[in-house]
Formats: sequence, structure tokens, C-alpha cells
Amino acid sequence: MSGPVIRVNGLSKRYRLRAATPGETLREALMARLRGRARAPEIGEVWAIRDVSFEVGAGEVLGVVGRNGSGKSTLLKVLARITDPTAGSAEIIGRVGALLEVGTGFHTELTGRENIHLNGAILGMRRHEIRAAFDRIVQFAGIEKFLDTQMKHYSSGMQTRLAFSIAAHLHPEILFVDEVLAVGDAEFQQRCMGKMGEIVREGRTVIFVSHNMQAVRNICTRALYLEKGRISVCGATEEVIEAYLKSVRESGHERRWAPAEAPHGEGVRLLRLAVSGEQSGDTGQLLSGEDILIDLECELERVYSSLQIGFDLLTVDGAVVFRSYQSDGIVSEHPRLRVGNNLLRCRIPAGYLNAGRFVLAPRIGDSARWLIREDPVIELRVTLTHGVSPFWSGINVATKPGATAPVLRWESLGGS
Ligand SMILES: Nc1ncnc2c1ncn2[C@@H]1O[C@H](COP(=O)(O)OP(=O)(O)OP(=O)(O)O)[C@@H](O)[C@H]1O
Ligand SMILES: [Mg+2]
Repeated sequence: MSGPVIRVNGLSKRYRLRAATPGETLREALMARLRGRARAPEIGEVWAIRDVSFEVGAGEVLGVVGRNGSGKSTLLKVLARITDPTAGSAEIIGRVGALLEVGTGFHTELTGRENIHLNGAILGMRRHEIRAAFDRIVQFAGIEKFLDTQMKHYSSGMQTRLAFSIAAHLHPEILFVDEVLAVGDAEFQQRCMGKMGEIVREGRTVIFVSHNMQAVRNICTRALYLEKGRISVCGATEEVIEAYLKSVRESGHERRWAPAEAPHGEGVRLLRLAVSGEQSGDTGQLLSGEDILIDLECELERVYSSLQIGFDLLTVDGAVVFRSYQSDGIVSEHPRLRVGNNLLRCRIPAGYLNAGRFVLAPRIGDSARWLIREDPVIELRVTLTHGVSPFWSGINVATKPGATAPVLRWESLGGS
């Protein structure tokens, strides 16, 4: 076995927080900076990662998990040299391909074609190597028609598809992947996972940041759990996932945010998420035989038809049971949204969930991207009370397997 190809030692990154100038747009702020105008006064600082040390061996796939804001993306950005560390060092031996947040690594004034060549050159590829991979990159990303269009006209989904395709096909020895599965339709996500599997089998070294525990479980040989910028647990994937999910489970049945700390995205702020039982109320112990009510309160600055507000319901070990949006189903039945405060209620019908512990993760997006994508924030504890058959106890079956326990209709089609 060769030695580590990534060696991180005491890595820390501090961001200084500056007061926003009232009424200033992002564009104005950037322009002011470019013109060298005095910067706004500092109002505090945040250590995004703190004293992080670990090593990754050649061919290892290291998963990085942790709650929103725990420093995962910052860690990858420092490793990919997109931002400098405040302290510590990171030594990397090999050609690095980084797939970070949408847009990083692309030049938006250049066309898709030009960006593929530029990224190849950054990765140290030779011209003929890039040419050999070119068609596969374009095909995988599905951007044939837009090859000669400037990247600034691409949707964020198209940018992510191209970024992933370049990273996957240009054969970097070391690959950093941040949340690629979050964007894109189900079919593209599936293809990404397939491609990730291939990359892993080729023995390349990968650091994979994800909120998707199933994906981490499937492809990572080892994992690291970041909590408020520090390593909480680093070790076998299963052990790390278990530690992470334990912290998620400790959340209660209601979560309310102060406006300043509320999860927010462009034009939307999440204020409250709560679960209660139609009969059991908010005791925290729900019955599978009652309607389970999910209340979601949010503040909207704008209302538009592609806005999707909802949640993922997951089992405590991280498997998604389902995703629900207010915009599912027939348009005429969607709840009306208004500018300002909205209290939305989703009803999980009686007789649907099995006994068990579930968690809810808020999801708000428009047709192209996430506006809010939080880790699970509340827990549902469900006792099985519906569909109980007198014959179960006879054969000593106290519970059913599975996350859901619908009582389905059976009929006899005859026989002899
Ligand atoms: N450019 C920045 N300026 C100031 N603070 C920042 C900046 N980037 C990140 N932070 C802060 O650093 C902390 C870590 O953020 P980071 O984006 O690394 O978290 P994350 O684990 O990737 O979160 P998520 O799961 O939501 O993607 C957060 O408190 C965040 O607000
Ligand atoms: Mg991140």
C-alpha cells in the first residue's frame, strides 16, 4: 500500500463577517470591492472549520457528513485551493478535479465547449486527451445543443451536469464532490451515482460530501462527521453515519427559528416546522392509525408558480420514504400562497406509516434549484395502531417490516 495522497494537518478557516450596506445588491457590493472602496466594518467572525486533521490513502473514498453550516463545503474549498486556510496545512499528491457548488471552476463568459477545454487544461490534460473525452463529456451532460452558448445562459442544472461530466470523464486522480446529487432530476442523479461507482472501482481517490446517507453508505470506505467545523467522529462509514443520525434524532417534534437564524434562500424564509397527530396532539408520540399533520410556516417575498415547498420524510437511518410538495398533484387543488407569512399543512393519511422513528427535512426550491435544503429538523415517533389483525399475535408478530404499512385490498379471483 502506498502512503496517503491527502494529508491534512490542523486545518482551520475563519471568515470575517461584515455588515451589509443597506439597500446594496450583491452586484453593487462586488463592484464596490473591485473599485477598492473601503469595506464595510467587521461585525464578527466564524470559524467554518477548526483544527481539522486527517489523511486519505490512494483509492480511498472518504465521505464527509454533517449538519448545514458544519463546514463541509469550506473544507473542500480549502482542499481544492479555492480559498486559503487561516491556519494549518493540506498536502495533496496528485491531479485534483473538484466538483463543488454550481459554477465554481466555470468561466461564465465562455461557451460550454471552451469551458471543457479550460477545465481540462487546469487538470493538466493534454489536448488530445481532452479531445478523446470531449464527446462523452457532452453526451453525459446532455448539452449538445448548447455547446457554443455562453455558460451564463445555462441553467444551474445544466451547469451542474456539465461540471459533473467533466469531473467524471477527465480522469483526475483525486476527485472532490460536493452535493452533486442534490441537483438534477432523478434520472441524472441515478447516472451520477453509477458514474461515481465506476470512478471508485477505477481506484481513484474521492472525497464525497453529501446529505444522502444511502449514497455515503454505498460508495464510501470511510467517513468523517463534522460538527461546527470540528471533526466529531472519523472512522468506519457505518459508525460515522450512526453518530450523525443520532444527533438528528435528538431533535423534538417542533422547530421554530428566530428570524435571524432561520434557514432562508432567495425570497423565502422558513419560520417553523411541527408535527402533530390529529388525535394524539403534540405529545410527540404519533399513532399510525391517525392522520399525521405536518405544519410548515414560511415567509415569502414573492409568489410564483414554480415554487415548491415541502419536505422529505426519512427513516432515522437516512432512507427517503417520500418527498412531498405543496405543488404536487392537480393545480386547482394547490394551497394558495401569498406574499408574507404562510402556514401550510400537509396531511399524511391514517394507515400509511409503519411503526418507527422518522425525521423530516425541509425542502424548498423552484424548478431549477434549491432555495432551502435543510438537514432533518424534527422527529416523528409512530406506534402501529392500524390494520392490526387478530391473527398477528397468534404467530407472535408484533411489528411489520418496512417504513410504510398500508392495508391493501385483497380479493380472490377464484380457484378450484
Ligand atoms: N464566504 C463566506 N463568508 C462568511 N461565512 C461563510 C462563508 N462561507 C461559509 N461561511 C460560514 O461558514 C460555516 C460553514 O459553511 P459551509 O458552507 O462550509 O457549511 P456546509 O457544511 O457545507 O453546509 P451545507 O450542508 O448547508 O452545504 C457557516 O457558518 C457559513 O455561514
Ligand atoms: Mg455545503
